[in-house]
Amino acid sequence: MGDKHAYMEDQDVKDFTRDIQGYNLGPLWEAIPALMNKTPEPHAQAYLWTDELMKKKLNEAAQIFTPDRGGERRAIYFQNPGLTYRQPWGWASTTQTLYAAVQLLLPGEVAPSHRHSQSALRFITDGEGAYTIVEGERIFMQEGDFLVTPKNLWHGHGHVGDKPMMWMDALDIPTIYSIGGTFFEPYPDKIETPKRPDNFSEQRYSGGMVRPISDRHSAVAPLANYKWKRTEDAIAGLMKFEPDPYEGYAVEYINPSNGQTANPTMGAWMQKIPKGFHSKAHRHTHSVIYQVHQGSGYTVINGVRFDWKKGDYFVIPNWAWHEHIASEDSYLFSVNDLPIMEKFNLEQGQALDLNNGNQKVSSEFKPFIG
Ligand SMILES: [Fe+2]
Ligand SMILES: [Fe+2]
Repeated sequence: MGDKHAYMEDQDVKDFTRDIQGYNLGPLWEAIPALMNKTPEPHAQAYLWTDELMKKKLNEAAQIFTPDRGGERRAIYFQNPGLTYRQPWGWASTTQTLYAAVQLLLPGEVAPSHRHSQSALRFITDGEGAYTIVEGERIFMQEGDFLVTPKNLWHGHGHVGDKPMMWMDALDIPTIYSIGGTFFEPYPDKIETPKRPDNFSEQRYSGGMVRPISDRHSAVAPLANYKWKRTEDAIAGLMKFEPDPYEGYAVEYINPSNGQTANPTMGAWMQKIPKGFHSKAHRHTHSVIYQVHQGSGYTVINGVRFDWKKGDYFVIPNWAWHEHIASEDSYLFSVNDLPIMEKFNLEQGQALDLNNGNQKVSSEFKPFIG
């Protein structure tokens, strides 16, 4: 926070503030120290939710909530404890700009089609046999796949396999809500009927670094599903070179038509932290939500150690110091609000210039296990 001034405690100042609040007015001289921090001071906190907790709660949810009963998705979202105060009905987002959830779809279930002005990213964590149907195209999902559902496109989910299927959803709900841009519409029927061959966009892009000539000016990511094998191969190619000192071996999912982020408002990365690697600490304006796709290790965030393993989720808030350490070869999937920060020209970064570039660990985070 900026400096508070002693005069704010004086009775005549307090009386005046209360007086003008009665006219829906406020004194700027009090707002400035509270709002204009020297550097970002997000209310979102560093936090971690374990795989066990999410699976336990989703399995409990399966007993009481079905898409048929509620007409909605069976998704449990991450409420950042630093943001729970913001809305009286209990909503709290995961970071100040981003929402993330884990969704469970059981064999035979259908999550009804709808469309909305928020964009969605999905990362497949468990199972196979479910599809998402986007604008009439069924896109079958497997572990490690990354999917983009751009805003305003019809989408629903169905499951024709025989095992439970789970994935991470990430949306820009808090950003769109706070700027007053929310639109939502249910599909007239329960779910769309297929209008295209299954996995159509993936087949169109099976050539890799070439695009169909009709996609030259695509603003919306024309590739809906980024298959795990391709991501893994891309990272394997990087492994022949030196890692990034802060992020290890990291790739970003892009829109193959324009080279921009796969979705305009949210970035998504996959990074490999090799066994024994200890990154340097840095901080940046943007916030990040991680899912541990494979491996185990820990991340130090503002001096607190967060141990993680496959299936866990954790949050790095804006401008928080962080460094990653892997105890086995690890893959971390993440979603960030870097595109938002860049659109406002707000992105900055800083390397830790102390202690050989690493933080001192002051405590360990104790998560709910489940
Ligand atoms: Fe949706
Ligand atoms: Fe970082």
